[in-house]
Amino acid sequence: MSKINQTLGEFIIDHQSSFKYSSGELSRLINSIRLAAKVVNYEVNKAGLVDILGDFGDTNIQGEAQQKLDVYAHDKFVQTLTKRNIVCGIASEEEDDFISINSLDANNQNKYVVLIDPLDGSSNIDVNVSVGTIFSVYRRVTPIGSPVLLEDFLQKGSQQVAAGYVIYGTSTMLVYTTGYGVNGFTLNPAIGTFYLSHPNMQFPDLGNIYSINEGNYVHFPKGVKAYLKYCQMEEGDRPYTSRYIGSLVSDCHRNMIKGGIYLYPETMQNPAGKLRLLYECNPMAFITEQAGGKASNGFKRIMEVEPQTLHQRVPFYCGNKKMVSTLESFMKENP
Ligand code: AHG
Ligand code: MN
Ligand code: MN
Repeated sequence: MSKINQTLGEFIIDHQSSFKYSSGELSRLINSIRLAAKVVNYEVNKAGLVDILGDFGDTNIQGEAQQKLDVYAHDKFVQTLTKRNIVCGIASEEEDDFISINSLDANNQNKYVVLIDPLDGSSNIDVNVSVGTIFSVYRRVTPIGSPVLLEDFLQKGSQQVAAGYVIYGTSTMLVYTTGYGVNGFTLNPAIGTFYLSHPNMQFPDLGNIYSINEGNYVHFPKGVKAYLKYCQMEEGDRPYTSRYIGSLVSDCHRNMIKGGIYLYPETMQNPAGKLRLLYECNPMAFITEQAGGKASNGFKRIMEVEPQTLHQRVPFYCGNKKMVSTLESFMKENP
């Protein structure tokens, strides 16, 4: 069969045997995410039509207003993974504690935990701008068949077995990696099927886009300020172009295709940075590295940062390898 028309379902089956510890469990997991993504996509797409827009009237553990669709997306992903008995634990940006699944059922032989940002960039929904879902998968470290513990979730990003994102944009895509490169699938909404549209995604060698919320400039560390001046300087292939959507998934997706760097430094308001290590940075870092890019906290590889808490934040610099390396040298030279 021509690979051009390959569906995500067919791709998963074709590649199952190449997973390191293949038992079909990871394939079922990706399948469930595909299903939940379609349901959430349907709801996101009609957001302008129904009374689902606006605040849910609650704040999440990070003190941010929860949007109705945040909660909806959280519920759908959790339900899909729980009811189908796919994983042994879930941690979500939208919930204070991790969820243990069938913890008292000794028959629960599932070995994977999922960490998820159910709706990323949710403040963009009200203005019809792309949002996303980010997920990260680890093999549990505690014994199979026992309740999951915090340590199953607090693993370094380098331990991830899979990671991906869904982007609900002008078209809806699911992009993921299991450590063998990155593949992107585009949803045909007429028949509800994802097709392989972006096989083996790779950052271009050179990039010329920088993406940062420059409104926070005055609070940025010296190294970031100096790097931004470098980006704006007329020399060689510079000045770079500036693009910022304010939705991590969309900004990183564009940069991976066109070549660029995404920056979210620490600021006065967010002294540890804004983005969450486990739900946002590690999965985006895994995808980035698998696509030939680089992800850093300004000084070291994001995936080597030792997590201390579930909702931990971290400064995040991610994108084209050369651009992130240059940023790191500016950080080092401007303490
Ligand atoms: P979330 O909607 O899951 O809370 O994430 C929002 C994040 C991220 O998507 C985006 O890159 C960043 O917040 C934007 O922050 P600023 O509005 O501070 O630029
Ligand atoms: Mn987010
Ligand atoms: Mn979110």
